[in-house]
Amino acid sequence: MMMCKQAQAIMQIPTGGMDLSAVSRRRPHKEKAVVVIGATGTGKSRLSIDIATRFPAEIINSDKIQVYEGLDIVTNKISEDECRGVPHHLLGIVDPESDFNAGNFVSTALLAMKSIVGRRKLPVIAGGSNSFIEALVDDENYQFRSRYDVRILWVDVAMHVLEQFVSDRVDRMVAAGMVEEVRNIYNPNADYSKGIRRAIGVPEFDPYFRAEYSSSTDHKTRAMLLETAINETKMNTCKLGRRQIEKIHRLIQVKGWEIHRLDATEVFQKKGREADEAWEELVARPASLIVDDFLFGNYRYRDFAVSSEIDDRGIREAEIRAAMATASY
Ligand SMILES: *[C@@H]1O[C@H](CO)[C@@H](O)[C@H](O)[C@H]1NC(C)=O
Repeated sequence: MMMCKQAQAIMQIPTGGMDLSAVSRRRPHKEKAVVVIGATGTGKSRLSIDIATRFPAEIINSDKIQVYEGLDIVTNKISEDECRGVPHHLLGIVDPESDFNAGNFVSTALLAMKSIVGRRKLPVIAGGSNSFIEALVDDENYQFRSRYDVRILWVDVAMHVLEQFVSDRVDRMVAAGMVEEVRNIYNPNADYSKGIRRAIGVPEFDPYFRAEYSSSTDHKTRAMLLETAINETKMNTCKLGRRQIEKIHRLIQVKGWEIHRLDATEVFQKKGREADEAWEELVARPASLIVDDFLFGNYRYRDFAVSSEIDDRGIREAEIRAAMATASY
């Protein structure tokens, strides 16, 4: 699989057209950032790329497993095609044997954000690790809150619908070569509590690969161990999804975070073009309106009315308000 390339920070030259310089000129003390959260499989990457193709933006990955190099199938990293040329940071760059923790994430994400806003672009932080997001947004040195205004978007999918989807996704991963991929990093003495081996789909296959090593295991037992490993990968992915959603509820209810919820359930109940249309209507468009309002806000119509392509897109203020009202959790 061709992977989406990690952005080369020094090589990013701002392109022409709409940039955010007008925004930062008016509010020099605070930059803006968008965060995309949600359970595994809901479409966070897709939404972040949708945003980055509609606004000048770069993406910072906040999935604690996708930061590591390798296991592209198991960790479900987006392909080069899906990236659509949008620069990504913290994606597949960390040594898979090392341990990348929340503290490492906070410091590297803040650096990436600084370089992105330096290019007059919007940092979009997207990924499933809510602990990373919480550590970043509420870091003890107040580095994030003091420098950035933030909008948080939550792609939500009803759990029973999501469970079927992620379960089918595991079957697709197996068909795409997941077992071979995990076998390549198999080491009977490996520590599953560190680095990329914590990925769901790695420890689950240990008994199966162990049996492959042992000549005494018969064919039937191996087949059963493989099926068990696949079943457990599915179960653990569903468990992860439930934990992620619980954590988001906690961020809203206990920490009082303002989070804009976008319900993508219908998208998963449709297929092909209908699903794409539902995504646009229920997720991509409301998200764009929220980001548009966030970036260009109240003064947009006063100041930008005469010039620029912003006006041409014809989004009216009332529409934004309506979208905000229905999209807010
Ligand atoms: C795996 O899951 C399927 C479907 O739930 C079940 O029928 C099967 O018995 C399970 N296999 C094993 C080995 O647990």
